[in-house]
Amino acid sequence: MAHRWTNRLKDRDVTDETLWLNRRALVVGAGAGLGLAGLGQGARADVLEPTDWDDITSYNNYYEFGTKKSDPARHAHRLTTRPWSLRIDGLVDRPGEYDFEDIMARMTIEERIYRFRCVEAWSMVVPWNGFELADLLDMAGVQPGAKYIAFETVLRPDEMPGTRFPTLDWPYVEGLRLDEAMHPLTIMATGIYGRDIPNQNGAPLRLVVPWKYGFKSIKSVVRITATDSEPPTSWNKSNPREYGFYSNVNPEVDHPRWSQATERVVGSGLFARRQETLMFNGYADEVAGLYAGMDLTRHY
Ligand code: MTE
Repeated sequence: MAHRWTNRLKDRDVTDETLWLNRRALVVGAGAGLGLAGLGQGARADVLEPTDWDDITSYNNYYEFGTKKSDPARHAHRLTTRPWSLRIDGLVDRPGEYDFEDIMARMTIEERIYRFRCVEAWSMVVPWNGFELADLLDMAGVQPGAKYIAFETVLRPDEMPGTRFPTLDWPYVEGLRLDEAMHPLTIMATGIYGRDIPNQNGAPLRLVVPWKYGFKSIKSVVRITATDSEPPTSWNKSNPREYGFYSNVNPEVDHPRWSQATERVVGSGLFARRQETLMFNGYADEVAGLYAGMDLTRHY
């Protein structure tokens, strides 16, 4: 294991009444609230049982390597991930090229076991290792005028065969509102199951926003920009009717072509299990307040 990996709880986490951090197989906050008696067909217990390593690392979306789920695991070894630098710029006090190893030395790496829900209606539970995006943004010093954070994936056509086709407008870009980016659930993941994150999952560092559809969790990030206006996002540019800027997991707002009420549990065997999708992917207690007063059918 190249990275230091600690399980240390921070004070604010210990005092948090929801024990979402470092609590393998324990109740994870929010929304579920199902008594055993209420567990019917398709309902779900709120125990987080991590998906197998093999499923997490072989069933991927990373269109820079192709559009099939098996393409990233087949082709992503071509991506050079060391050395790696992350440019942080825009409305920050300390802009610059930050070396990945220097960032790792300054951040506290924790394990976060999160539900992961793709907009395509499948889900996993991933034991990420990483650090809070807020700590990285604090390192750069976000200025008062900033309202959004924009992200960009590396673009190397020589190493990324999928980028030779105009599947998306490369490079892959994403964005968050500043308060979403600063939320303690939002992390930059650098590992899975205590091992370095595999290339197909977005090495060496990728965003993870567990209450949003998976496509917001942009991989192999090379640039983070603090800005005062809503940044463009790849799937919204490609199909604005189907993919909004917010993309919060919401079982009540269907995708124009399929229902979002339930999800297929990846790795649950031949007769794949389906379960109900939870509002904000089960993190409503933590994040619903960010969207108070907003019409979530309009801001999808
Ligand atoms: N980031 C980049 N750069 N390119 C992509 O194609 N796919 C997104 C997201 N991040 C994608 C990306 C989608 S649609 C999903 S569901 C998740 O990555 C998948 O993450 P995983 O392969 O680690 O499960």
